[in-house]
Amino acid sequence: MSTARGEFSSRFGFLMAATGSAVGLGNIWGFPTNAASNGGAAFLFTYVILAFVMAYPAFMAELIIGRYSKSNAVTALRGLATSPGAARVGAGVGFAGMITVTLILSFYAIISGWMLAYMFAAMTDIARLESASTWLTQSGTTRDAVFAGIFYLLTIYIVVAGVKNGIEKWSSRLMPSLYLILIILIVYVLTLDGAMEGLRMYLVPDFSRVADPQLILSAMGQAFFSLSLGVGTMLIYGSYVSKKENLPAIGGMVTVLDMSVALLAGLLILPAMSVAQLNGIQIYDEQGALIAGPALITSVLPALFDQMGDGGILVALAFFALMSIAALTSSISMLEVPVAYFVEDRGVSRRKAVIVLGAVAASVSMVIIWNFGLMFDWVVRLTTEFSQPLLGFFFAIFAGWVWNRNALLTEIKQGYPEAESGLFWRIWPWYIKFVCPLIILAVYIQLII
Ligand code: TRP
Repeated sequence: MSTARGEFSSRFGFLMAATGSAVGLGNIWGFPTNAASNGGAAFLFTYVILAFVMAYPAFMAELIIGRYSKSNAVTALRGLATSPGAARVGAGVGFAGMITVTLILSFYAIISGWMLAYMFAAMTDIARLESASTWLTQSGTTRDAVFAGIFYLLTIYIVVAGVKNGIEKWSSRLMPSLYLILIILIVYVLTLDGAMEGLRMYLVPDFSRVADPQLILSAMGQAFFSLSLGVGTMLIYGSYVSKKENLPAIGGMVTVLDMSVALLAGLLILPAMSVAQLNGIQIYDEQGALIAGPALITSVLPALFDQMGDGGILVALAFFALMSIAALTSSISMLEVPVAYFVEDRGVSRRKAVIVLGAVAASVSMVIIWNFGLMFDWVVRLTTEFSQPLLGFFFAIFAGWVWNRNALLTEIKQGYPEAESGLFWRIWPWYIKFVCPLIILAVYIQLII
């Protein structure tokens, strides 16, 4: 039980780890296609606003609670409570978060496995191993199971090594490469014929859509998923932050970095799609909607890379490496949530906790793979549309109503002594108390209707 807790060794390490968690398939795939299907820049505009007024405050709640309690979500929320009833609710929210994030990992690993398979396919293309490439890019339960399995092994390998030598080390290596690959791909794609049309689709707003409830709903879900909120991921990362850091400032940096990758990904994906269209590749489905689901990544873009000839193989390699990196720095943050609980509260060794919990999540993935049509969408919607906002609501209630205000201020003042006179303290407490819960509730009610 009394093993020393992990801590990020530097601000850069925390920034890379937290940004690594936040930046994932949600940014590079979810955001651009959501934007394209929801009025382009109108979505972008709503998303940016929601990210600051909604997601950033909720993110701060998790970071502050985490650093204050220096523990996992179950213990942290239980500790904030002042009555036995509230303590039970707190522990329940922590547990529900652990289950939710394990389910998120179980579908995330399947998609991530596809990204790995396509990355390998680019390599077998280079080696002219045609039948291997065909197997790798054809959907099938065996392929899905093998590559989800490989993805789990990578995730487990990093998380076993701990906070500093695993999560921080690998995030600090992988995230800068991610930015670099992303920029190179954007520059390249923007030089291709037809790219400007995609840019227009992305950047010219259809303002008639701004007040559309569906757009607001999607933008909010996107912001929530993208900052990894509601399940204790950011709480646990916050618990590894040194008391010397100014939390509102570093939380703001993570929000901006996360948003920047989403906005940049839009500059890559949408122009790539219009280039594909110009080359005769179908980018709209029968209903006239832009192809946005798995088919975008597994058929539209690969068809485009194919047409580029040999150079296209390198572009494909870079693109799927980008996706795999983004996915891996996110999945490690998911697995860390239950791991931290079992290590700290149950006295299980890290190694054992990581392997057993990784195996549990992998088993759930296998069940989903073999019942894909039945389960996949359902698990995605249950966790991201239902659980995440609901749990985010409880986090806001704990930070705004349950937790003692003086203790809260004392915590923020660590690393930010002049907090009381700053803008953050003037706005945020009020915000997390009223605005965040109300917005989440409103969206949530809309969802069930
Ligand atoms: N934010 C990541 C993305 O955009 C995914 C992610 C990581 C996540 N940890 C999470 C989502 C916890 C929900 C909960 O892809």
